[in-house]
Amino acid sequence: MPSWKTVRDDFPALRQQVNGQPLVYLDNAATTQKPQVVIDALSHFYEHDNANVHRGLHALSMRATDDYEGARARVAKFINAAAPEEIVFTRGTTESINLVASSWADANLKPGDVILLTEMEHHSNLVPWQLAARRTGAVLRYVPVTGDDGRLDLTQLDRLLTREVKLFAFTHISNTLGTINPVAELCARARAVGAVSVVDAAQSSGHMPIDVRAMGCDFLAFSGHKMAGVTGIGVLYGRRHLLDTMPPWQGGGGMIAHVDFFESRWKPSPERFEAGTPNFADAYALGVACDYLDGLGREEIQRHDAGLAQLAYEKLSALPKIRLLGPPDGERGGLVSFALHDVHAHDVVTLADQDGIALRGGHHCNQPLMKKLGLTGTARASFYLYNTAAEVDALVASLQRIQKFFS
Ligand SMILES: Cc1ncc(COP(=O)(O)O)c(C=O)c1O
Repeated sequence: MPSWKTVRDDFPALRQQVNGQPLVYLDNAATTQKPQVVIDALSHFYEHDNANVHRGLHALSMRATDDYEGARARVAKFINAAAPEEIVFTRGTTESINLVASSWADANLKPGDVILLTEMEHHSNLVPWQLAARRTGAVLRYVPVTGDDGRLDLTQLDRLLTREVKLFAFTHISNTLGTINPVAELCARARAVGAVSVVDAAQSSGHMPIDVRAMGCDFLAFSGHKMAGVTGIGVLYGRRHLLDTMPPWQGGGGMIAHVDFFESRWKPSPERFEAGTPNFADAYALGVACDYLDGLGREEIQRHDAGLAQLAYEKLSALPKIRLLGPPDGERGGLVSFALHDVHAHDVVTLADQDGIALRGGHHCNQPLMKKLGLTGTARASFYLYNTAAEVDALVASLQRIQKFFS
């Protein structure tokens, strides 16, 4: 069991005051802070190994290539993929999903086919499918959310998940509700009707164990910056047989086997999907972030984050004039979304900032869900491995001050 108190010392950004108060960073669902080992790894790469990868025959290029391909193998192990070739490096979750929506969807969907989504999807797992539907003539369907308790209404699946559904995309953990969805069950249900499954793991990859083979998903997307890694690097996992039959979505250097003036042939996956100079330095640092998280233990991280979210949920429930979203029990990840009656979410965030507390406020890239719930936005506290129970207390005290201010 890690010593959470010393874990906090690993994160230099937390050693600062904001508005004269110790920083309480509760905006981890947007991006997490970075441990010193990850920051050092990036500096080390640039100080020692930096050169372009794959094509070089000199020492630095070979070292950089080893670092990059080593990171691919490390990420494959992190999510228990069958082979490193199933890992495509991207800019982040958004780009990973757009890759599938461009390459797989354009090649496989026809008018009348159905793309099934859920009402709790982040815009990144919604807009790419709207664009794909527009291009291919496919139509969208949504699994409803039950209400403020934030669960998927799985009683509707028999009606919605018909043979016309060719792709089912859903989030592992909702960034607004905190709900942890039963992904293995959803992947199995998709497979039973011959649909491919796409899991948005942006909010889960750094917070809990991920095993793509146990999950049974066809594609899974996540971002390095939400899991103690640096910005600008993300991952698309895809089953090998699917990736190998998909056309490239971007053309350029690195992804070709042969080029002629009028046609070209592609390399297999993953190079086929990594046109141009890849983000090798940030990929290397992502591998180090994977080591860091596994050193602490992802089950322990999940217990820690969910424990703080549960504590926050209970303490916030005791406040007057508050509306809490998401499931109240063990189906919740490490975040809590709430709306104070008569106080705009942006005011909550601005005033909490005066107490040194970093929250997020607004629609959280979930506009349709907000509309369905009759909200313009919520404030969100999202926890990570360096947060403490004392910070939950600081949040509650700050909200009490804000309520008093507006009363
Ligand atoms: C559930 C979910 N999906 C996708 C994204 C998009 O991630 P990125 O902006 O890193 O591509 C986010 C970001 O907040 C998210 O929370």
